[in-house]
Amino acid sequence: MNLLKVILICILFNVTNLLLAQDTTIDRKIDKLISQMTLEEKLGQISQVHVFDVPTTESAIRKGEVGSVLNAYSPEQVERFQNIATKESRLKIPLIIGRDVIHGFKTILPIPLAEAATWNPELVKKGAEVAAKEASSQGIKWTFAPMMDIARDPRWGRVAECLGEDPIMAGIMASSMVRGFQGKNEKWNIAACSKHFIGYGAAEGGRDYNTTLIPESELRNIYSVPFKYANDSNVYTVMSSFNDLNGIPASANKHTLNDILKGEWNFKGFVVTDWRTPCELPIHGYSETEKEAAEKCLNAGIDMEMVSNTFFNNAKTLIAEKKIDENLINEKVRRILKVKFELGLFNNPYTVPKTNALLLPENLKIAKELAIQSIVLLKNQNNILPLSNKTKIAIIGPMANAKLDQLGCWSPDGNPDDTQTPLMALNNDFSSNKPLFAEGAKSCISMDANGINEALATAKQADVILYFCGEDAKMSGEGHSRAFITLPGIQTELLTKLAKLGKPIVTIIMAGRPLDLNGIDTLSNAILYAWHPGTMGGPAISDILLGKSNPSGRLPMTFPRSVGQIPMYYNHRNTGRPAQLSDHDFVPTGTPLDPKDLSSSYIDISMKPMYPFGYGLSYSSFTYSNIELSSQNININGELIIKCTITNTGKVAGYETPQLYIHDKYASLTRPVKELKAFKKIAINAGESKTVEFKISTKDLGFYNNDNVFVIEPGTFDVWIGPNAVEGKMASFKITN
Ligand code: BGC
Repeated sequence: MNLLKVILICILFNVTNLLLAQDTTIDRKIDKLISQMTLEEKLGQISQVHVFDVPTTESAIRKGEVGSVLNAYSPEQVERFQNIATKESRLKIPLIIGRDVIHGFKTILPIPLAEAATWNPELVKKGAEVAAKEASSQGIKWTFAPMMDIARDPRWGRVAECLGEDPIMAGIMASSMVRGFQGKNEKWNIAACSKHFIGYGAAEGGRDYNTTLIPESELRNIYSVPFKYANDSNVYTVMSSFNDLNGIPASANKHTLNDILKGEWNFKGFVVTDWRTPCELPIHGYSETEKEAAEKCLNAGIDMEMVSNTFFNNAKTLIAEKKIDENLINEKVRRILKVKFELGLFNNPYTVPKTNALLLPENLKIAKELAIQSIVLLKNQNNILPLSNKTKIAIIGPMANAKLDQLGCWSPDGNPDDTQTPLMALNNDFSSNKPLFAEGAKSCISMDANGINEALATAKQADVILYFCGEDAKMSGEGHSRAFITLPGIQTELLTKLAKLGKPIVTIIMAGRPLDLNGIDTLSNAILYAWHPGTMGGPAISDILLGKSNPSGRLPMTFPRSVGQIPMYYNHRNTGRPAQLSDHDFVPTGTPLDPKDLSSSYIDISMKPMYPFGYGLSYSSFTYSNIELSSQNININGELIIKCTITNTGKVAGYETPQLYIHDKYASLTRPVKELKAFKKIAINAGESKTVEFKISTKDLGFYNNDNVFVIEPGTFDVWIGPNAVEGKMASFKITN
């Protein structure tokens, strides 16, 4: 062993010892605190209050009856609450102040679904760091993000907040966000929260809060995967969800919370309910009273109650009746105190901002880069994009200057005055060739057609029309599901009339979900999907329109052609009679009376999505060639290297995002037709070829079977490296015993 190795081992040994020592010191402090606490004080620690009334909140904090405050409205208020907690309460335990910092605090980042569309985990991590730095400067030490519910239904309003339809992709992004928020720096780290545990995104019919029915193997193979990633990244907290999962509300689900999360996964942090979820148990029909609801949630593994006080009001009686054990409460308090210690709250509970951390140039830069990389070029007929700034453009549409709406659904702290809109950015970038402008419609949802004529007259004078449309911010997010996912209001009518002018149209869509673009697609020469891009959306869009940045976003969700195809997701199973895509690509397969075949397809619409998962164009073009496997046969414990050459055949440098998919062809449980296993985002210069290499182990190829056992089965697999879920170079291999 050489000297360097010895030194390294010594350092490692000392660091490990130091960490263990710190851990035991914290544990000792926690033991001491718990031994001094009254039952009321313990119940206080497991209660999170919302500031409905300041004097009531302050008095409860003073009595030690509050562990966390949700939505304290200003840093001054946070400081006051913390001062009361740490100076005037008996045991001087700091509060943990929580708030929904979902996609940025003051610097609003693109919505999470858009962040996923960057396919750039490192950049997403930087975004979370920005949010943590800004929020912590105002005293917030806990965010209720990331949300990692797998969603396959764009009608559901909360798809805006999720990280797409793929479990591994959502897991990688969730883990980046957790690491970004939690950082390593006590001065600005904030606790992250994996939410909503679990199955919430499978709400039937895309209706928020609706029932979910998920077989356990599917729960483990799909819905729980991102939560496992976040757990492996040491997320401090988890939020239980509102939904009824297979007949048991998720917040009272012992199996998922106690057995899987805290048992199998050894989750070390604490679990908070969602907003007043215990009070919803009687409404679900799962408990007769709120007291029984408290008992069920406490026994199921919930540690803290958000906003309502069924725990605080009932736990004492429940203990006296031996329905719960005081040790169970101690264990919950221990988890909460541990997070408070590890976050550094005991060292530094005060939060008055000393330096201004908000909207700093470096924060705006990251927000802009995230927006740029999230924008997906869906169509670019005759390479109409990028534009030259000599082109006479008409900027039309309700999203061109929508300062509030482009911020998206979860931006309570964002100030529209800080927003840089496309109109502002384009006016700047085309300063010597002033763009024409008419909004055409007052908002996305407006039915008032009075602006259409002015919009047409304006558009007539231009060479190219830039049409900014989409959804108002409040059309997605919690409780904002839609039955129809077309462009709302008069926006389609406006576009149809603009198209009649015969000028090239670039449609820029800013929305909180995948929209039904059937029709929009044919009316537009180019389409940019910009989601709700946040504070810096305008400059990001302008950079892309002008080719200062090359589009590199890829879809994190399948875009259906019609709401009637939903649920539509790439990793579906095959059925015994799969649709013959080559036969009925865009052609209806018969009539209701005379279907052309008996396959799993529709008689009145194609089986293809409008745009598949993983899809996105660039101003460069890329070809894939020479897929190579390290072996055609791998041992049950083996590894496989898959390589492919990618060439930029375009004229400009760009990013390409090769995606690795597999298909386990025969198994004891039927497997999806494709499953994403890995991806990379790589920069390739014009004319350059790069070899991309992925390494997977057989563990990546296993799955939970119907006995909920993780199995790796011998058999044949197809593997693809490609630019999206439907294209790519394919090879095959076998796992052998
Ligand atoms: C939402 C959560 C959110 C919480 C606190 C709930 O209604 O479902 O996602 O974190 O409110 O605002």
